[in-house]
Formats: sequence, structure tokens, C-alpha cells
Amino acid sequence: MGKTAIFYGSTEGNTETVAYKLKDLLGDVDVFNVDSASADDLGNYDNIIFGASTWEIGELQEDWETFIDVLDDADFSGKTIAYFGLGDADGYPDTFVDAMGIIHEKIKDSGANFIGAVGTDDYTFDDSAALYDGKFIGLPIDEDNESDMTDDRLEKWVADIKGKLQ
Ligand SMILES: Cc1cc2nc3c(=O)[nH]c(=O)nc-3n(C[C@H](O)[C@H](O)[C@H](O)COP(=O)(O)O)c2cc1C
Repeated sequence: MGKTAIFYGSTEGNTETVAYKLKDLLGDVDVFNVDSASADDLGNYDNIIFGASTWEIGELQEDWETFIDVLDDADFSGKTIAYFGLGDADGYPDTFVDAMGIIHEKIKDSGANFIGAVGTDDYTFDDSAALYDGKFIGLPIDEDNESDMTDDRLEKWVADIKGKLQ
């Protein structure tokens, strides 16, 4: 199997916690905080999992605000990419996990293969910028309201993406 890394940004630690849970489930993966990662780091991996929380009503997490421009310097063609996003569907139902959509808009035409879209049935929200063809472009996790569902959601998602990684 090719090399896999998780790149996450996290303000209060929720996305970081989920990133390391994912690492435990996936096995041999490296984990980077985007506050200190580079385009060269991205270039070293065949499979990349981006993790981001949404802040300030539909905005990227603050370290992602800087890292999003680093994506311009990376070549994603031929890579396999998945997303997970932390959000609060109860407090911010109109901008639920928007950050995944903001990142995807930036790289959707990069020639990468995107995996890990998730249906909306399991979530109660009004709108999200992370919706593509009626599905979330990645895995939403809501630690504010549904933390009891996180482990199950992660296990199901990993079962989906594991066979699709290069
Ligand atoms: C001021 C504020 C604004 C937020 N805005 C959103 C939002 O627009 N959409 C959303 O889904 N979650 C929103 N959240 C919820 C966070 O994304 C959520 O708490 C997340 O787990 C934080 O993850 P982190 O600790 O990794 O940054 C907001 C939280 C705060 C405190």
C-alpha cells in the first residue's frame, strides 16, 4: 500500500482527537498539524486525509485559513484524498461542516481521486457547503452534540475508505 497521511487543523482539540482516532483505526499513517505542515509534506504521500473544523459561521479553522494557500503549491494529480470535518449541527445548522466544502472547492479540479463521501440520513442540519451530489464530501463528526456516535461513525467510514486507498 502507498503512504498515507492525515493533515488536520484544530482550535480546541476536537479535530486533533479525531485525527488520532483515525490513525489508530487505519494503522500505518502519519499525522500532521497544518499549523506546521508544508507543500513538500503533502507531496510525500499517495493518500491524504484532510481534517478541519468550521468556525465563525461557515469559515475555515484558523490554521487552515493559512494552510489553504499552501495547497496551491502542491500537486494532487493521481493522489487519493478524503475529508473529515468537525462541526456543530445544533448550534450552526446552516453552515454545518462547511470547512470540508471550502477545502474541496480549492482542489476539486486538481486531478485527485476523492473518496469517502457520506450520506446525509444520519445527520440533522439545514444546510452545508460540504454537500456535493446530495452527499457530504467527507465524514462529518459532531463532538458538541453527538460524541457518543463518533467512534461508530469513524469505524464505518474507515471500513468504506480502507479498500479505496492506494
Ligand atoms: C464561535 C464558533 C463558531 C462555530 N461555527 C461553526 C459553523 O459555522 N459550522 C459548524 O459546523 N460548526 C461550527 N462551530 C463548532 C465547531 O466546529 C466544533 O465545536 C468543533 O468540534 C471544533 O473543533 P476543533 O476543536 O478541532 O477546532 C463553531 C464553534 C464556535 C465556538
